[in-house]
Formats: sequence, C-alpha cells, structure tokens
Amino acid sequence: MMNSKTLIEKAIEAMAKSYSPYSDFKVGAALLTKSGRVFTGCNIENASYSPTNCAERTAFFKAISEGEREFTAMAVVGGKNGEISSFCSPCGVCRQVMAEFCDKDFMIILFDGKLTKACSLEKLLPESFSL
Ligand code: THU
Repeated sequence: MMNSKTLIEKAIEAMAKSYSPYSDFKVGAALLTKSGRVFTGCNIENASYSPTNCAERTAFFKAISEGEREFTAMAVVGGKNGEISSFCSPCGVCRQVMAEFCDKDFMIILFDGKLTKACSLEKLLPESFSL
C-alpha cells in the first residue's frame, strides 16, 4: 500500500534526474494512480526557456501516455541544487493539468525536508475553468 512517505521518497529519487542547468532548481514528482501504480517525473529545461516542462507535468504526461486516466495523489519536492528546504508548490499551469484529469479531492503532498503537508486540488485551484 502506497503511503505519503513512500510517495515523497519516489519524488526525491525523481528529482535526482532533473535537467535544470539554467535555474539549478531541481524538482521531482511522484503521481499515484487509482490502480496503485506510480509515475515519476522531473523538470526538464531548455536553452530557449519556454519549452521547459515541470516535474509534475512530466509525471502526468508519462502516465496519460501509458493509458492511465485516474489519479489519487501526487508528491512534489524541489529546491535549488536539489536541496529541499521549503515546500515546492505546483505552478498554475500544472494545477490546470491536474484539473483536467483529477477530481477536486486529488491530494497534493509537499515536503520541506522536515515537515509534510497535504492539500486538495480544490484548495490549490478553486473555481477552476472547464468547458
Ligand atoms: N518547476 C517545476 O518543475 N515545478 C513547479 O511546480 C515549479 C517550477 C521547475 C521549472 C523550472 O525548471 C524550475 O522549476 C525553475 O522554475
């Protein structure tokens, strides 16, 4: 059974794969599916900057492209040079991607190196856009 601690550990492992030579800010994410699978992701930067993909979206796009559509939770960690010293909260674009595929009770789990905090997608992206 996947718990928050294990999901955070997988996010930390994923962070080590970060390609971030421009910001030196490494991010890792671990996405838990309703079926119990975990897809990890890291941020992937680009010399042209705007093609940069966040860790969260890397994990989502890996999972979606493998046929997964239902998700329970995601752990996210990050920090300058991979040093986790504060909570790394998902950016607005990643929250919108979460809203495309997740219910409002989808949980985002953050870790600052000492403490863990969790909150729902509904709280991170209230009154979100949908067609
Ligand atoms: N980044 C993420 O991967 N996830 C976030 O939620 C915020 C920002 C990445 C993008 C970029 O490579 C670096 O962090 C600095 O912005």
